[in-house]
Amino acid sequence: MLPSAFSMTTDTTYLVHLCFGSNCTFAGSRKLLHVLEEEIAALGIADQVTVVPTTCRNRCDWAPSMNVLPGNICYNDLDADAIRRIARDHLAAGVIVDEYVFRPPPPPVPTHGRRVFTFDPNAFRPKDE
Ligand code: FES
Repeated sequence: MLPSAFSMTTDTTYLVHLCFGSNCTFAGSRKLLHVLEEEIAALGIADQVTVVPTTCRNRCDWAPSMNVLPGNICYNDLDADAIRRIARDHLAAGVIVDEYVFRPPPPPVPTHGRRVFTFDPNAFRPKDE
Protein backbone atom coordinates (compact mmCIF):
# COMPACT_ATOMS: atom_id res chain seq x y z
CA MET A 1 0.00 0.00 0.00
CA LEU A 2 1.22 3.49 -0.89
CA PRO A 3 1.89 6.03 1.83
CA SER A 4 -0.85 8.64 2.21
CA ALA A 5 1.32 11.30 0.53
CA PHE A 6 0.74 9.44 -2.75
CA SER A 7 -2.99 9.05 -2.34
CA MET A 8 -5.17 10.33 -5.18
CA THR A 9 -8.00 11.25 -2.82
CA THR A 10 -8.37 13.73 -0.02
CA ASP A 11 -10.24 13.66 3.27
CA THR A 12 -11.64 17.14 2.70
CA THR A 13 -15.10 17.99 1.37
CA TYR A 14 -13.75 19.95 -1.59
CA LEU A 15 -10.71 19.64 -3.81
CA VAL A 16 -9.86 22.86 -5.64
CA HIS A 17 -7.62 22.81 -8.72
CA LEU A 18 -6.36 26.32 -9.37
CA CYS A 19 -4.63 26.52 -12.73
CA PHE A 20 -0.99 27.56 -12.77
CA GLY A 21 -0.50 26.97 -16.47
CA SER A 22 1.37 29.75 -18.23
CA ASN A 23 -1.72 31.64 -19.41
CA CYS A 24 -3.51 31.54 -16.06
CA THR A 25 -0.32 32.47 -14.23
CA PHE A 26 0.05 35.43 -16.56
CA ALA A 27 -3.61 36.31 -15.88
CA GLY A 28 -3.04 36.38 -12.11
CA SER A 29 -3.50 32.91 -10.59
CA ARG A 30 -0.55 33.46 -8.24
CA LYS A 31 -2.39 36.38 -6.59
CA LEU A 32 -5.66 34.42 -6.63
CA LEU A 33 -4.05 31.56 -4.70
CA HIS A 34 -3.23 33.96 -1.85
CA VAL A 35 -6.74 35.42 -1.96
CA LEU A 36 -8.25 31.92 -1.90
CA GLU A 37 -6.09 30.77 1.00
CA GLU A 38 -6.86 33.92 2.99
CA GLU A 39 -10.59 33.61 2.38
CA ILE A 40 -10.61 29.92 3.30
CA ALA A 41 -8.78 30.75 6.54
CA ALA A 42 -11.13 33.66 7.29
CA LEU A 43 -14.17 31.42 6.74
CA GLY A 44 -12.69 28.75 9.02
CA ILE A 45 -13.07 26.00 6.43
CA ALA A 46 -9.41 25.08 5.97
CA ASP A 47 -10.13 21.53 7.18
CA GLN A 48 -12.80 21.12 4.47
CA VAL A 49 -10.87 22.35 1.42
CA THR A 50 -7.70 21.15 -0.28
CA VAL A 51 -6.21 23.58 -2.80
CA VAL A 52 -3.89 22.18 -5.46
CA PRO A 53 -2.07 24.29 -8.06
CA THR A 54 -2.34 22.45 -11.37
CA THR A 55 -1.24 22.55 -14.96
CA CYS A 56 -3.33 23.90 -17.83
CA ARG A 57 -7.07 23.22 -17.66
CA ASN A 58 -7.39 23.74 -21.44
CA ARG A 59 -9.55 26.85 -21.06
CA CYS A 60 -6.76 29.39 -21.51
CA ASP A 61 -8.90 31.86 -23.45
CA TRP A 62 -10.95 32.33 -20.30
CA ALA A 63 -8.06 32.47 -17.82
CA PRO A 64 -7.69 32.25 -14.89
CA SER A 65 -9.34 28.85 -14.48
CA MET A 66 -10.28 26.84 -11.42
CA ASN A 67 -12.08 23.53 -10.94
CA VAL A 68 -13.93 22.49 -7.79
CA LEU A 69 -14.52 18.84 -7.07
CA PRO A 70 -16.73 16.93 -6.49
CA GLY A 71 -18.82 17.74 -9.51
CA ASN A 72 -15.85 19.08 -11.46
CA ILE A 73 -17.37 22.55 -11.54
CA CYS A 74 -15.26 24.64 -13.91
CA TYR A 75 -14.89 28.32 -13.07
CA ASN A 76 -13.33 30.85 -15.42
CA ASP A 77 -12.62 34.56 -15.89
CA LEU A 78 -11.76 34.81 -12.22
CA ASP A 79 -10.60 37.79 -10.21
CA ALA A 80 -10.18 38.36 -6.47
CA ASP A 81 -13.88 39.15 -5.95
CA ALA A 82 -14.90 36.00 -7.83
CA ILE A 83 -12.53 33.88 -5.73
CA ARG A 84 -13.93 35.32 -2.49
CA ARG A 85 -17.48 34.72 -3.66
CA ILE A 86 -16.74 31.12 -4.73
CA ALA A 87 -15.08 30.48 -1.36
CA ARG A 88 -18.03 31.96 0.52
CA ASP A 89 -20.89 30.50 -1.55
CA HIS A 90 -19.53 27.23 -2.95
CA LEU A 91 -16.83 26.05 -0.55
CA ALA A 92 -18.49 27.26 2.67
CA ALA A 93 -22.19 26.96 1.77
CA GLY A 94 -22.29 24.42 -1.10
CA VAL A 95 -23.94 26.76 -3.61
CA ILE A 96 -22.39 26.81 -7.10
CA VAL A 97 -21.64 30.36 -8.28
CA ASP A 98 -23.32 30.21 -11.67
CA GLU A 99 -21.97 33.56 -12.78
CA TYR A 100 -18.43 32.20 -13.14
CA VAL A 101 -19.20 28.67 -14.38
CA PHE A 102 -17.48 27.98 -17.69
CA ARG A 103 -19.77 27.54 -20.66
CA PRO A 104 -18.11 26.20 -23.79
CA PRO A 105 -18.52 28.46 -26.81
CA PRO A 106 -20.64 27.25 -29.72
CA PRO A 107 -18.81 25.23 -32.38
CA PRO A 108 -17.02 27.35 -34.98
CA VAL A 109 -18.84 28.29 -38.15
CA PRO A 110 -17.09 27.02 -41.31
CA THR A 111 -14.83 29.70 -42.70
CA HIS A 112 -13.58 30.34 -46.21
CA GLY A 113 -11.85 27.43 -47.86
CA ARG A 114 -14.44 25.02 -46.59
CA ARG A 115 -17.32 23.88 -48.70
CA VAL A 116 -20.71 22.97 -47.37
CA PHE A 117 -21.78 19.64 -48.86
CA THR A 118 -25.40 18.82 -49.33
CA PHE A 119 -26.26 15.30 -50.34
CA ASP A 120 -28.59 14.84 -53.27
CA PRO A 121 -29.64 11.15 -53.47
CA ASN A 122 -30.63 11.57 -57.10
CA ALA A 123 -27.37 13.07 -58.25
CA PHE A 124 -25.87 9.78 -59.46
CA ARG A 125 -28.99 8.00 -60.63
CA PRO A 126 -29.32 7.42 -64.34
CA LYS A 127 -31.73 9.85 -65.84
CA ASP A 128 -34.85 8.53 -67.52
CA GLU A 129 -34.99 9.74 -71.05
S1 FES B 1 -3.16 27.92 -18.58
FE1 FES B 1 -4.92 27.80 -17.32
S2 FES B 1 -6.43 26.94 -18.60
FE2 FES B 1 -4.62 26.94 -19.80
